[in-house]
Amino acid sequence: MKAHIVLAHPEAKSFNGHLSDISRSVLRSAEWQHTMSDLYAMDFDPREGAHHYKSRQDAKAFHPQTEQRFNADNQTTPTDVNTEAQRLLECDLLILHFPLWWFGPPAILKGWMDRVFVYGRLYRSTMRYDTGICSGKRMIACVTTGASSDNCAYNGREGDTHLHLWPVLYPFRYLGFDVLQPEIFHGVGSAAFLEGREDGLSTLDTYADRWTISLETLSSRSTVRYNRDDDFDETKRLLPDARAYSPFIRHKPDAMPD
Ligand SMILES: Cc1cc2nc3c(=O)[nH]c(=O)nc-3n(C[C@H](O)[C@H](O)[C@H](O)COP(=O)(O)O)c2cc1C
Repeated sequence: MKAHIVLAHPEAKSFNGHLSDISRSVLRSAEWQHTMSDLYAMDFDPREGAHHYKSRQDAKAFHPQTEQRFNADNQTTPTDVNTEAQRLLECDLLILHFPLWWFGPPAILKGWMDRVFVYGRLYRSTMRYDTGICSGKRMIACVTTGASSDNCAYNGREGDTHLHLWPVLYPFRYLGFDVLQPEIFHGVGSAAFLEGREDGLSTLDTYADRWTISLETLSSRSTVRYNRDDDFDETKRLLPDARAYSPFIRHKPDAMPD
């Protein structure tokens, strides 16, 4: 079995860096092959743009999807993107490590998605959602927040972290992945952590143990529920009798899902 780890944090000594070390060690013990992309260490350029493409279908105006597809068809995808795309296509399990930054992923991770999810190679209209190229693969996001679990709860002032993660995880569903319930460690930015206090350090140890166990028991972890392709009509609206799983795809504009 093969896993690919993606770390989006500028500091290897951060808690996210530590969690990614745990991932590697657990995978090693389980005799999984694995690769890792430490996006900052690689100096991965998250900006999709004309500067990446030597060969262009349209030299006058840069249309990202046109050039992604043209270069994929001609096997001239930029080398950094090609390596990442290949790792996604070869892995059975993808693990993402990132901190929540302004209620979303760090920009480097969003840019990695913008560039690596190559149109024409990783998705096209006939190859997405239920027919996605990554069908049968699993992915899990391991996320840290600075705010406490109460603050990040469904009724917390920071808003529900599970909802903040929906737009981050849905692209992986788009590619066909089985998206496992994310692992979220709250309160990692509190004073207790930053000052290295005993209570902060012991919580980090507890979190590290929890992540180890989560990885070791991944086969029994539930997945995020999404609508299947046949839950939608020909206009791609949710069918009246289909279940709504999130406020992002619901039956009434002003209502929460049942
Ligand atoms: C630019 C930036 C934005 C942040 N935004 C949030 C946020 O929206 N919600 C939150 O709970 N914490 C936020 N934080 C705190 C980080 O999530 C927290 O420091 C991190 O999860 C701790 O993990 P680390 O030690 O691996 O960096 C932010 C931190 C930075 C640097």
